[in-house]
Amino acid sequence: MAEFTSVADYESKIKRVLITKEEIAAAIEKAGKEIDKIYDGRPILLVSILKGAFVFMADLCRAVSVPCEIGFMCAKSYYQGTVSSGVVQITMDLEQDISGYHVVIAEDIIDTGRTLHDVVKLLKARKPLSLHVVTLLDKPSRRLVDFKADYSLFTIPDHFVIGYGLDCAEYFRNLPYIAEYAE
Ligand code: IMP
Ligand code: MG
Repeated sequence: MAEFTSVADYESKIKRVLITKEEIAAAIEKAGKEIDKIYDGRPILLVSILKGAFVFMADLCRAVSVPCEIGFMCAKSYYQGTVSSGVVQITMDLEQDISGYHVVIAEDIIDTGRTLHDVVKLLKARKPLSLHVVTLLDKPSRRLVDFKADYSLFTIPDHFVIGYGLDCAEYFRNLPYIAEYAE
């Protein structure tokens, strides 16, 4: 657990707001409509990659109108502070047999690309009817593995960001906006 001496100390780590909650809400509304258009009434399985995408998933699932089931997978990419270790581990798998599903993965952020590269490979091997990736944030300048989302709500520069599900050492996930972390 990190050491914070006060709320002011905690908040001093929030350098500046990059994306407001209103901007996030508008982008999710648009993404929901896009999903409705693509699937055109066909049911989908919306899969949230935990923990980071739990907030995004909660809002995205309420922005779609097509029949929608939800599923959760926990993929951990180990971080030492703000630096990725490169190790991706699936610590909780889906309960559904996805072979009969149009799967839409909801991810919080694509950074090096390793997490989604591994998750997509794993899920494709299970032969879903189709597989799409929607990411809230994309940091293309940081890519180490070739990976492209089908739909990205925001492209951001190379900053470590927190809030709206994204953490630094498990803190700040509950911020309603996306902020730059003060390193
Ligand atoms: P990747 O495997 O490097 O693409 O990283 C994906 C995972 O790392 C994301 O699902 C996040 O959980 C985490 N991550 C990457 N960049 C950030 C960031 O700027 N803030 C918080 N978490 C991040
Ligand atoms: Mg994370």
